[in-house]
Amino acid sequence: MGAADYLLKGQIDSTMLERSIRYAISHKQMEMQLLETSRLASIGKLAAGMAHEINNPLTSVLGFSQLLMAKNIPDDIAVDLNIINTEAKRAAKIVQNLLLFARKTEPEMRYLDVTSLLNRVQELKSFDFKTNRISVTNEVPPDLPWTMADEHQLIQVFINILTNAEQECFASRGGGQLRIQATSSPNWIRISITDDGPGISPEKLNAIFEPFYTTKEVGKGTGLGLSICYGIIRQHGGELWAESELGKGASFHIELPIVLPVDTTEAPPLESPTAPAFAKHLLVVDDEPHIRNLLARSLEMQCYIVDLAEEGKEAFRKLTSITYDCILLDLKMPGMSGREVFQLMEESDPKVAKKVIFITGDASDPVTRDFIAKSSNPVVLKPFHLDDVCRQVLNVVQGD
Ligand SMILES: Nc1ncnc2c1ncn2[C@@H]1O[C@H](COP(=O)(O)OP(=O)(O)OP(=O)(O)O)[C@@H](O)[C@H]1O
Ligand SMILES: [Mg+2]
Repeated sequence: MGAADYLLKGQIDSTMLERSIRYAISHKQMEMQLLETSRLASIGKLAAGMAHEINNPLTSVLGFSQLLMAKNIPDDIAVDLNIINTEAKRAAKIVQNLLLFARKTEPEMRYLDVTSLLNRVQELKSFDFKTNRISVTNEVPPDLPWTMADEHQLIQVFINILTNAEQECFASRGGGQLRIQATSSPNWIRISITDDGPGISPEKLNAIFEPFYTTKEVGKGTGLGLSICYGIIRQHGGELWAESELGKGASFHIELPIVLPVDTTEAPPLESPTAPAFAKHLLVVDDEPHIRNLLARSLEMQCYIVDLAEEGKEAFRKLTSITYDCILLDLKMPGMSGREVFQLMEESDPKVAKKVIFITGDASDPVTRDFIAKSSNPVVLKPFHLDDVCRQVLNVVQGD
C-alpha cells in the first residue's frame, strides 16, 4: 500500500532497524527526485506550448509596430512605438528563457557593458518602484569592465531580483530602500542588490533557488524566478547567492567572470533589402491570420506578388498549380503541418522544396531542431524582424 519496508515483530535488531530506516529515507529521496524530474519535464512541455502560443501574438506586435515606425509619424508617437517594440522583444526573450530553463539552450553571448545594462534595468523598473514606494541608490561605477554575456538573460536576472526585493519590501511595510552596487577585480565583476525588507531565514536561504519554491500566494508567484536566474548565471560561468538575516533585509550577489571577446572583427553590415528587378511570386503559409497579413503587407511593399494559405492542404493545392519563387512555411499548423507539406513537396518537386523558408516559434523543440538541421533550407524564427524576412526572401528568389 505504499510502505517502504516492513519489520517482523520479534526479529528486529539494531542493524536491521538501521538498514530499514536508511532504505526508507533513500526510497523517499528517490521518489522526490522522480517527482521533481517529471515536474520539470511537464514545465518543458508547457513552455514549448506557451512559446508557440505567445510567439504568434508577439510577432504581430513586433511586426505591426515596425510597419508603423517606417511611416511618417510624429516624434512622440515614434518614441512610444519604440517602447512597444523593445518591450515586445523582451517578452519574446522571456518566453525563450523559460525554454532555456526547461531545455538548457545556449546563451547568445556578446561583449557588453554591465553598467549601462544595470542602468537600463533600473529605468525599466522605475515606474513600478515609484508605484510601490521603493527608492533606489545606484552605486554602480561607470567604468565597470565589459564582458561577454547574453544581454536579455542578464536583464531578466536583474529584473527578477529587483522585483523580488520590491515585492517583499512592499508586502512587509508598504515600501522600502534598495541598493545596487558593483565592484570588479581583474577577473570578476560582482553586482550586489540589497533591500531592507523582511529578510530570509537561514534554513530558507538555499531553498529559494529551487524551482517552485515560493512563499507568495497562489497565482502571485511561480517560484521559478530565482531558479531561472541561478541557471542563467551558472551558464555564464558565474555565481549567484543570497545573504540575509530574518528581519534585516536581504542581499543577492552575482559574480560574473570577465570574458573578452574571442573574435573582435565585426560582421560586415548587411545590405538593406531591395526589391528584385521583376515581380516574383511568393506563397505565405501560416495558420495565424495576423501573421499572414503582416507578411503579405511587408512583402507587397517590396513589390512581390503574395498568395496566402492558412493550412497545409490549401498550400499544397496552390503549390501544384503555381510555380512560386519562394514559399514561407510555418512548421506548426493544425491539420497538415508545415513539415508534412514540405515532405510532399520534396517528393513531388525537390527544386521547389529548395525555395522554402521555414517559420517557427520554437526552434529548441528537439523534433523541430532535428528537422531544420537535416534540411538545408533557411529558417525564420518567430518573433521575427521584418527586414530579416525580406532579406531571406531576397536570397531565395535571387538564388534562382
Ligand atoms: N529579497 C527578498 N527578500 C525576502 N525573500 C525573498 C527575496 N527574494 C526572494 N525571496 C523569497 O524567495 C522565494 C522564491 O523567489 P522566486 O523569485 O524564485 O519566486 P517567486 O518570486 O515566489 O515567484 P516568481 O518569481 O516565479 O514570480 C520568494 O517567494 C520569497 O519567499
Ligand atoms: Mg520572483
